[in-house]
Amino acid sequence: MSALGTAGRGGLRVIAIAGGKGGVGKTVLAVNLAVELAQRGDRVLLIDADIGAANAHLLLGVFPDAGIRDVAGGRVPIEDALFETTAGPTLLSGLGHEIESEPLDDCETLALLGALDSIGERFDAVVIDTSAGVGDNALFFAGAADEVVLVTTPEPTALADTYASARALCKRSGRSRLGLVVNHAFGPGIASAVHDRLQTLVGHFLGARIDLLGWLPFDPLVHDAVMVGQPIVATRPTSLVSRRMRTLAQDLSALACESPLAAERSALRFFWSSLPSRYGVGGGATVVPGWAAGLPARGRA
Ligand SMILES: Nc1ncnc2c1ncn2[C@@H]1O[C@H](COP(=O)(O)OP(=O)(O)OP(=O)(O)O)[C@@H](O)[C@H]1O
Ligand SMILES: [Mg+2]
Repeated sequence: MSALGTAGRGGLRVIAIAGGKGGVGKTVLAVNLAVELAQRGDRVLLIDADIGAANAHLLLGVFPDAGIRDVAGGRVPIEDALFETTAGPTLLSGLGHEIESEPLDDCETLALLGALDSIGERFDAVVIDTSAGVGDNALFFAGAADEVVLVTTPEPTALADTYASARALCKRSGRSRLGLVVNHAFGPGIASAVHDRLQTLVGHFLGARIDLLGWLPFDPLVHDAVMVGQPIVATRPTSLVSRRMRTLAQDLSALACESPLAAERSALRFFWSSLPSRYGVGGGATVVPGWAAGLPARGRA
């Protein structure tokens, strides 16, 4: 059975799109992946965690008037910040009333976790778009995912930044396996060469693994879709880039289903609630917020 279209059967999948270099296609991938999963029947939450430079809404042609920071700051209930898009996913935007790119502080993080906790059971898949590099916000959201996908292009500058991100993710959030998507690739050969170089570095210096999940060709149609605020998988479903997005969505969803985290929890609640202690948010393992009390110990470990 395909791992897609598993709505209502448990096994929430959380996929974070990350990457070192700006402009390599993280948001394009996150948005189209979310749309693709939604089109296949999953209830998808797309979180634009690029707080302060949010733009996933522009690729969907929508303009939410509240976002993560409003929810985290307690100014807006999460219900009012969730934006249902016609393309399929529900968007929690990185936009907000206040323009700040500072990482969320401990109080904001706990408030956000509590809010996400309350809506978790409504979704089958969560796709998180993060900012370039691995700052605190990106690390926090990537640390929460079953699958972390690093996006790169074949350029040496992008590879260097991708390796730096892999190092931060492995050292600071304890990951030993990452996924890789090579964007702007001319074909599988170049994607494989890029992967070989990164795997050599990641294996040798970090003792970790990076798996090539797929590649996307450079296609001016992507630019056209961005210009009109519509995801390319919706406007040009038969283009090569859309077909490759579709394959990626299918593979990623299956992979995320197999993750130990996904197997252990049946609702988002367990997952988000485990974050404060796992990643030192809110003072580490000694801080268990009220809404997390009563969860099984493993959910808070
Ligand atoms: N496969 C592709 N073919 C052609 N153009 C592409 C492709 N992928 C991305 N682009 C172009 O690159 C631009 C930047 O992509 P995107 O916003 O997804 O990058 P990003 O990694 O999210 O950047 P940032 O780090 O600033 O958040 C897009 O607006 C689009 O025009
Ligand atoms: Mg982006």
